[in-house]
Amino acid sequence: MKCALVTGGSRGIGSAICQKLAEDSNYHILINYQSNADAANETLKAIQEKGATGEIIQFDVTNFEEVSSVLTKWQEANPEAIVEVIVNNAGITKDGLFMWMTPEDWSKVINTSLNGFFNVTNFFIQKMLRNKYGRIVNMVSVSGVKGTPGQTNYSAAKGAVVAATKALAQEVAKRNITVNAVAPGFIRTDMTSNLDEKELIKMVPANRFGEADEVADLVSFLVSKKSGYITGEIININGGIYS
Ligand code: NAI
Repeated sequence: MKCALVTGGSRGIGSAICQKLAEDSNYHILINYQSNADAANETLKAIQEKGATGEIIQFDVTNFEEVSSVLTKWQEANPEAIVEVIVNNAGITKDGLFMWMTPEDWSKVINTSLNGFFNVTNFFIQKMLRNKYGRIVNMVSVSGVKGTPGQTNYSAAKGAVVAATKALAQEVAKRNITVNAVAPGFIRTDMTSNLDEKELIKMVPANRFGEADEVADLVSFLVSKKSGYITGEIININGGIYS
């Protein structure tokens, strides 16, 4: 059983990725979620309706022990399963001006994007290297490449994942494992639902927010066999806001 794991897969971009992989690939889809079991079940139902198989796996990507113990148990229960694809999608924002930023808001954001990437990817990397095939896609952000005021924590977290993507890509390329990052601009999801879309689209050459589906299409290509010679790349998907 070949599997694709999507962290934070229950809603938003993560859910769109799960559903796109259900259409475009034969992977058994592992939908990770942290707290919203209903949303995870809805995503599972949606992928099953598309004829794919999958299951939901609950863990908090920030917690190394929890990630290790849940995934170890899962791997023991599924000894034949091979995770070929990891999409590190889980991420949060805790926006605010840096001068007022609390240590909690700094650490939570870093722990989710950066430590989440470590905790999940590190669990699978030796198995992937032995298997001599893999696709890792990290969800970063325009904030991680350009920097966004009011998001120093988030920009730092995503920027760190950008650098980790480039480094790890070079370590594992010989074994047919690619590591890339996708850097969206404004995408219409829960994360951006409080933003003033009408005002913000004035900054976007495409004159609109992007859709989760559009990000999912790009991820689907990057995790496919077709993308084998692309690695260590950060691919912007932002309607022209930054390149
Ligand atoms: P969202 O808030 O709808 O989804 C984030 C998902 O991550 C949720 O399912 C959430 O439960 C999960 N998550 C958060 N902390 C977690 C943890 N500790 N363990 C496991 N899961 C956890 O937001 P959206 O927009 O779908 O974001 C997905 C990714 O895309 C994030 O990494 C975000 O930073 C990134 N992104 C989003 C943009 C946007 O405009 N919506 C722009 C650029 C990047």
